[in-house]
Amino acid sequence: MDYSQKISERQWNLPDKGELESRREATYIDDIIQKDHIQRKLLEQLDGVRTVFDGGAGSGRFSILLAKQGCRVTHFDISQPMIDKARELAAKAGVLDRIDFVKGALEDLSAYRDRQFDLVMSFDAPISYTYPNQNRVIGELVRIAGKKIMISVSSRLGSLPYLANPIQKNQFILDENDDDPFVRWCVANRERMIDGFAFSKQNAEKLLADGLMGGEEEIAQYEQGGAPWCITYAFLPDELEGILSGYGVKNIRLSGPGAYGRTIPREILIRIMKNPEQKRDFLDFCYRYDSNPYVCGMGKDNLLAVGEKD
Ligand SMILES: C[S@@+](CC[C@H](N)C(=O)[O-])C[C@H]1O[C@@H](n2cnc3c(N)ncnc32)[C@H](O)[C@@H]1O
Repeated sequence: MDYSQKISERQWNLPDKGELESRREATYIDDIIQKDHIQRKLLEQLDGVRTVFDGGAGSGRFSILLAKQGCRVTHFDISQPMIDKARELAAKAGVLDRIDFVKGALEDLSAYRDRQFDLVMSFDAPISYTYPNQNRVIGELVRIAGKKIMISVSSRLGSLPYLANPIQKNQFILDENDDDPFVRWCVANRERMIDGFAFSKQNAEKLLADGLMGGEEEIAQYEQGGAPWCITYAFLPDELEGILSGYGVKNIRLSGPGAYGRTIPREILIRIMKNPEQKRDFLDFCYRYDSNPYVCGMGKDNLLAVGEKD
């Protein structure tokens, strides 16, 4: 088994993962924008869709949404805590009978038939965590899709600005008093991150060239019993489009959820989020702007692709 898969298995099976994941939209503004964008795109795709495969489905943000729309969903994930949380939320939503929960790794989809599902989806970067198998995994997801495929992967152009901004996540914290552990960490370390920061052109050039975040250091941490963040492969827009079309996907549309929102300072974002009317208009406009293919590379850190099978 590759290190990426072993690291993902350990990282995503940490006991609090499901709980933290399910609170993201209550905590971070960029997650609100991204979820809203994916949700809108998904709801536009449901014509003729009855069966759905959600690969790396997490705590059920989108699998439960589609079960509520009447679809039969296979919720597939490498993490038991995620599946447990999703099962709890699906029960609350009254859709347990429409979801099959499967624990498994995207690296092996051999249990599924060609074109088994009307819609195959995988959101918020599970594919990027399967490095070095990411292209083959996309091929397998396309193989089991009958009509439509929708994936969001880590975006290389969207991730590069992080290398010049160690406090970018602070921009999106909704409430600085939130007890979420990462919020506490971002608030406590803000000044230290700024003081200790030096821009490394070499690191930026490397990420631009190879798309790889993580590597030897993560492997060493894993070998010492640690649970480092996953080794992540970040795609370029034309690269992702080329891979999908190479597997026969047609009518591919790319977007970059978060591109508009990331240009706005935190004080302004908070004002918008606190006013329901402004928030609704803002999310409407983010959706339009972030769907423009010319900004798709600049989405926050996800690159979204929608396409069709013949
Ligand atoms: C950032 S979360 C996104 C969850 C969900 N798709 C969403 O958008 O809410 C990434 C998910 O991918 C899962 N994952 C990571 N590597 C995986 C792999 N190799 N196979 C299957 N699932 C994986 C994790 O357990 C986690 O639930």
